[in-house]
Amino acid sequence: MFSYPIAISLSPNTEKSDVLKSVKTLFIPNQWKIGNAVFKLEEWFRKYLEVDNAVSFNSGRSALYAILKSFDIGKGDEVLVQAFSCVAVPNAVTWTGAKPKYIDVDDSLNIDNKLLEKQISIKTKAIIIQHTFGIPANIDMIKKITQKYKILLIEDCAHSLGANIRGKKIGSYGDAAFFSFGRDKVVSSVFGGLAIINIKNAKVKYNLRNIRNKCLYPSYYWILQQLLHPIFFYLVLPLYNIYIGKLILFLLQKIKLLSKPIYKEELSGIKPDIFPSKMPNALASLLLNQLDKIDRYNQMRINHANYYFRHIKKKDVILPVRKIGSIYLRFNILVDNSEELLARAKHNKMILGNWYKHIIDPSNVDYEKIGYKIGSCTQAEKFSKLSVNLPTYPRLSQDDLDNIVNFINNV
Ligand SMILES: Cc1ncc(COP(=O)(O)O)c(C=O)c1O
Repeated sequence: MFSYPIAISLSPNTEKSDVLKSVKTLFIPNQWKIGNAVFKLEEWFRKYLEVDNAVSFNSGRSALYAILKSFDIGKGDEVLVQAFSCVAVPNAVTWTGAKPKYIDVDDSLNIDNKLLEKQISIKTKAIIIQHTFGIPANIDMIKKITQKYKILLIEDCAHSLGANIRGKKIGSYGDAAFFSFGRDKVVSSVFGGLAIINIKNAKVKYNLRNIRNKCLYPSYYWILQQLLHPIFFYLVLPLYNIYIGKLILFLLQKIKLLSKPIYKEELSGIKPDIFPSKMPNALASLLLNQLDKIDRYNQMRINHANYYFRHIKKKDVILPVRKIGSIYLRFNILVDNSEELLARAKHNKMILGNWYKHIIDPSNVDYEKIGYKIGSCTQAEKFSKLSVNLPTYPRLSQDDLDNIVNFINNV
């Protein structure tokens, strides 16, 4: 009765050591903002990706915004982005004054490189490619195009820390790249992000650092909310299936002791003051604890994905593309009756994932404000309707995996 539920989005990476780290950090508020964890975090990334710079922020969207500003992208410019994404991406573009232009996806759910050239205009300054669900995009083809037209290639690695192409890490291919450490990403500090510039351009690298240095730290209250997140989730989740847990988490969010991943105003394209901010030391130290475990986490995700590949037999369920180097943050299947399947799973006490059931997630995004025209990316719209994400997070047990597979095969 008191076991952890199958719940793809509820603090899926949190383990006991993360909770202990949060509790310990709570008692040293004089180190919440400034300390050496931020420095260690950036150094970790420089080594891991074999790059010469890494600049942390309080979220992936802040990191992307700062990259665009570092390259002087703004009013009058266009940035190509893929449909089937999160509102945080086009928003970071519009916040600079530039316009996002949406490109459809192929069946890997990554940008369709065959459509790119047609969309490039004199105003196009950059392409943001997303390695969706941890499956690497077709970087060689895309790089040829960006080099031919002299536009920037920015990698969105929000789903794909640790994924690689021919052994070289995702994030080290583009002219720039950013990562997210949101609550249900590869590793998590509830909020957090990091930007890197790969091209040899001292001025742009200086700009990026300068933008970060001019940012403020988030407030103590904001940091407190994030520190409480792993603690509450770890303690309350075992009560989730007897409803009390669900109620407690709802109330904690209502009284704002827990944060939400997206602010209300972002749904209509408005920038909350909190973005961009510096990465606070307290969250960097939570993240360092998670980074110690990254190889184990990603290996488990790959193992879980392989299990689904081997055991899901149901006709009419389309499995994700299989690509060496993927880390399968989520295992996305395509089914005709996806809404019904999600509802039935919930009824069976399994919270499966709904990225990206809205072409630009979450629900209630004002497409006009973010410049998306319904009907412009038909593949993405089709895949949004059909998508259901199966969990691959490290805490899943063999029983959980069997339950999910049985459910999918017999539903
Ligand atoms: C593909 C993708 N890119 C970027 C982001 C933004 O990251 P963050 O939430 O850290 O701002 C997200 C958001 O969750 C995302 O799913």
